[in-house]
Amino acid sequence: MTAPPLLRPMRIALLAAAAAAHPVLAAGTSPAQQLDRFSRQAGAPGDAERGRSFFTTRHGGEWSCASCHGNPPTATGRHASTGKRLDPLAPAANPQAFTDPVRVDKWLRRNCNDVLARECSPAEKADVLAWLLTLRGAAR
Ligand code: HEC
Repeated sequence: MTAPPLLRPMRIALLAAAAAAHPVLAAGTSPAQQLDRFSRQAGAPGDAERGRSFFTTRHGGEWSCASCHGNPPTATGRHASTGKRLDPLAPAANPQAFTDPVRVDKWLRRNCNDVLARECSPAEKADVLAWLLTLRGAAR
């Protein structure tokens, strides 16, 4: 008996456990996988119509999401206070959007705080992304 046959399955099990313990690795990198991640956290699929309404309305503060990202967010946005130009948020108009979970989480934390004075819930994130994924590019 040379290499114990148990070693390979154990290695695979360990890798799977590491990926599961590491949400960023497990989440993958496409917009569809981000939507899947938020929906699973919310325990329900995103609702595009609710996402459109959430994105385009103010929530007690000065700004909506659309204040900086535009409506529909298929064209270049403009930061409401600094005037800095923002790449389109809709994946159809910006292949980079929603491809980096760390970046997505970082901006959602910051932007939701700016708009709602709290973090967005997983359901709100799923709704917004479900809507963004229904938008067509072209406006660029
Ligand atoms: C005050 C301006 C502002 C508002 C309001 C705002 N954002 Fe943003 N958002 C930004 C900026 C700036 C970035 C970074 C863009 C860049 O560097 O190209 C960004 C990036 C993002 C990203 C990262 C996209 C990616 O994958 O690269 C997401 C997601 C996002 N915003 C969602 C939202 C949502 C949802 C709301 C409403 C709750 C919102 N934003 C409101 C300014 C804003």
